[in-house]
Amino acid sequence: MKIRNFRLNDYAQVLHIWRATNLDQEGASLDSIAKQISWDSELILVAEEDEKVIGVIMGSIDGNRAYFYRLSVLPEFQRRGIGHQLVSELENRFRAKGVTEVVIMVNQNSRQALSFYRSLGYQVEQLVTLSKSIG
Ligand SMILES: CC(C)(COP(=O)(O)OP(=O)(O)OC[C@H]1O[C@@H](n2cnc3c(N)ncnc32)[C@H](O)[C@@H]1OP(=O)(O)O)[C@@H](O)C(=O)NCCC(=O)NCCS
Repeated sequence: MKIRNFRLNDYAQVLHIWRATNLDQEGASLDSIAKQISWDSELILVAEEDEKVIGVIMGSIDGNRAYFYRLSVLPEFQRRGIGHQLVSELENRFRAKGVTEVVIMVNQNSRQALSFYRSLGYQVEQLVTLSKSIG
């Protein structure tokens, strides 16, 4: 298994992974991803095994703070440490770019995701999320 930068021709395989793990694809069109990698090509990573894309993570940086989202590993490849390695590699890249804090949003009812992030050293903060649709 290797982790490398996302390439635009990975998009169909990445969409397949998001669908297979029921992740929201809103805001992750090919166009929006192409725009993002034109700013920084090192913050969307994929895990690849035998030339097949089996995991993905998207990150972004705002000053000293970074975010990541749409982390997903194909169900048949889960629990092999791939999610862990994707997050660790992205954290290394964040660190190299001067980031000092990583913030993520997780559904508070998702015990699996919370257990995964706790295993990586993330702590739950006492914040609530507010949102408003303006579309
Ligand atoms: C969350 C996800 C990316 C984890 O990927 P993964 O490759 O299976 O994770 P890892 O194998 O690196 O797991 C590392 C540790 O996290 C914890 N963990 C991972 N999945 C877990 C689960 N389903 N239930 C409980 N703990 C879990 C365990 O402590 C695990 O270590 P262990 O296998 O030695 O017990 C994967 O389950 C996934 O794609 N889920 C669907 C999409 C999703 O929920 N994404 C996160 C959105 S916030």
